[in-house]
Amino acid sequence: AMLGPEARPLAGRHILVTAGPTHEPIDPVRFIANRSSGKQGYAIAEAAEALGACVTLVSGPTDLAAPPGVRRLNVETAEEMLAAVENALPADAAIFAAAVADWRVAENPSAKLKKSGGAPTLALTENPDILKTIAAREDRPALVVGFAAETGDAAAKGQEKRRSKGCDWIVANDVSPESGVFGSDENDVTLVTGESAEDWPRMRKAEVARRLMTRIAEALEGRPYL
Ligand code: CTP
Ligand code: CA
Repeated sequence: AMLGPEARPLAGRHILVTAGPTHEPIDPVRFIANRSSGKQGYAIAEAAEALGACVTLVSGPTDLAAPPGVRRLNVETAEEMLAAVENALPADAAIFAAAVADWRVAENPSAKLKKSGGAPTLALTENPDILKTIAAREDRPALVVGFAAETGDAAAKGQEKRRSKGCDWIVANDVSPESGVFGSDENDVTLVTGESAEDWPRMRKAEVARRLMTRIAEALEGRPYL
């Protein structure tokens, strides 16, 4: 069947997505990481492409294949992710689904640490906040969307995170152990836009992605193209 233009409401738009964990090196053979699977971010990139967007997916290390038609830029660290995101601008909307490591090892030696040297004490330093940095730019995407992995009151914590990050929307998701969403194909989210928050039912990550991208397409409607 022929698809009408309404089926591709993101045609002519550039959508930027971050996904996955970051790996922060300790030495040439070791790193600090987290349990992000990247599934939600990849599903968002795929949904944006399906709605007709040109999609750049800046991805930390995952086991996932790049969705067909999506331009994927592979990175390891938070600093590399920030640089890749900055280089990929401008974009009409950016969705920051990556689980960026909050800290990196302050100094990582170029030689492997040896057991005979004794247990090392690792000094950590804060990583750049990619979402906050992009949201503060003068040439920021028209719509900047962050994620907030929270335990407890997702709507209230999402509102607070939206203010502190300077972004437009926050997708707050419940990562309490009993929610079981980490690594799973389902997610339990609250969409915080402005002062209102919508609790979405638990659904597959692909469905969260389709709904979110449909909302983003509506929000971009009528805005000038890049
Ligand atoms: N984020 C980012 N760069 C970072 C840390 C987080 O871009 N260095 C983004 C994430 O991709 C997410 C949002 O910021 O969209 C919120 O991440 P989160 O870890 O929940 O917030 P933090 O500000 O790091 O606070 P905390 O982990 O202490 O809750
Ligand atoms: Ca964090």
